[in-house]
Amino acid sequence: MFESSRAVQPVAVFDSGVGGLSVLQAMLTQLPNENFVFLADEVHLPYGDKPQAFIEQRVLTLCDWARGVPTKAMVIACNTATAAGATRARQVHGAWPIVGIEPAVKPASMMTRSGVVGILATSNTVASERFKALVERFDPLARVLAVPCPGLVELIEQSPMDPARVQARLAPVLDTLLEQGVDVIVLGCTHYPFVRHLIQAHVGANVAVIETGLPVARQLEQRLKEAGLCQPATTLKGEQAPYLRVQFFTTGDPAAFHAKLQALMGSQWREAQVSPLRV
Ligand code: DGL
Repeated sequence: MFESSRAVQPVAVFDSGVGGLSVLQAMLTQLPNENFVFLADEVHLPYGDKPQAFIEQRVLTLCDWARGVPTKAMVIACNTATAAGATRARQVHGAWPIVGIEPAVKPASMMTRSGVVGILATSNTVASERFKALVERFDPLARVLAVPCPGLVELIEQSPMDPARVQARLAPVLDTLLEQGVDVIVLGCTHYPFVRHLIQAHVGANVAVIETGLPVARQLEQRLKEAGLCQPATTLKGEQAPYLRVQFFTTGDPAAFHAKLQALMGSQWREAQVSPLRV
């Protein structure tokens, strides 16, 4: 009885900004009966260069808020926030499922033919103990070159995004990876899938570019099943306009977030509601 009443609650999704939308997209498709509450901590963006302790505190604050909505689970749709705060958040929240996101080092290491994989991520993710441990685990399979891209998240958050500036920021980083023989590039920040086309165009078709939205959506599905928390199927939900399935909140400017939402996700999000979040 208790589980079935929780099952109708939405799932919280959280990122420093619009990056989490790339994960949300995958979850909307993979879990057609679920509703979502999306939290963007834009007032503190970017997380990539903030102290780890500060980000951990933001993760805890936003988890507290989301749990009080109430929501039945949390997806930390941010590599940087997962590295800094997922462990502590899980300790605090016990039975409330928290799904994090980590760069896809394992799939990349198994996929490479050249034996060299590149990881694009924020400075904080690259420097985190959690990421270092992840790389060490797959060290025997491949040489992993992790490169931070400071400033890239801010360019992706600009509305409208300027592709020429994004290309100029990416080119030296990608060229370094190509010179080292990389044949798989992992997008280790949830913002980067929004410039995946520019990355792919620069590195060419012989280099695979992989992201983590779908595996995270599958992991959420698994966790909800295990906990008996899947929303009962209805005939309508999956066919509903997507904006009816997501409530958006931002610690930044709701109008600016709304503009970015449409620019990145399409005009079908025009009717989406974005509310201010003061935490
Ligand atoms: N989207 C976040 C991630 O996946 C980071 C963005 C930021 O630096 O705020 O790491």
